[in-house]
Amino acid sequence: MTILTTLRLRLEPQDHAHLDGLNALNSDPEVMRYISGRPETREETRAIIERVKARWADVGYSWWTFFERDSGAIVGAGCVQNLRREASPHPDPEAPMELGWRLRRDRWGRGYASEAAFAMGDWAFDTFGPAELLAVCEPANTASSGVMKRLGMRDLGLQRWYGQEMATFGIGAAEWREQAAARRV
Ligand SMILES: CC(C)(COP(=O)(O)OP(=O)(O)OC[C@H]1O[C@@H](n2cnc3c(N)ncnc32)[C@H](O)[C@@H]1OP(=O)(O)O)[C@@H](O)C(=O)NCCC(=O)NCCS
Repeated sequence: MTILTTLRLRLEPQDHAHLDGLNALNSDPEVMRYISGRPETREETRAIIERVKARWADVGYSWWTFFERDSGAIVGAGCVQNLRREASPHPDPEAPMELGWRLRRDRWGRGYASEAAFAMGDWAFDTFGPAELLAVCEPANTASSGVMKRLGMRDLGLQRWYGQEMATFGIGAAEWREQAAARRV
């Protein structure tokens, strides 16, 4: 279970101690608009945290909670996980790895999602050595595809993931390393 630290955020593997903050995030209909389309109940958030904890224990990657370092507040969540072709809760370990993110509405427009995603991507490439990392979103979710573009990902067009046509972006290990090196200068 790996904690990642960026300039403004601390990414902690999700835990039951984060229930209030994560449920506040996932019960905002605007945040969930292009995810499940409906707010999450407290019980659902609790069950998801349980599954996420099991994934961390089983495979060593899953969802983090984003804490704002200045305030200590929970401001978002993000993941490294395997994509799924269908809308099933069971990940397919053979499927490509994806990066995912969501932020509290009052923290949009500050660069937090990209900042966290750079750290999650660096960690995923360094730790697991995948050939590529993908990210997917509903085609209308231009805020999310904006993050993908900021990460230097290429537009791979519409592909079927999670049982629906998703805008799909990706980046190979070599390209990621090049732009990671440029980020550090
Ligand atoms: C998708 C989502 C995380 C994107 O959030 P975001 O704040 O737009 O993305 P970033 O954190 O990368 O921030 C980039 C924005 O912050 C601005 N910004 C301000 N200060 C910045 C800084 N210091 N560094 C970088 N960007 C900064 C950028 O200019 C950009 O704004 P723009 O899009 O108006 O040009 C957010 O819209 C969200 O949570 N949506 C709901 C959940 C969701 O749909 N998740 C994705 C499911 S696939």
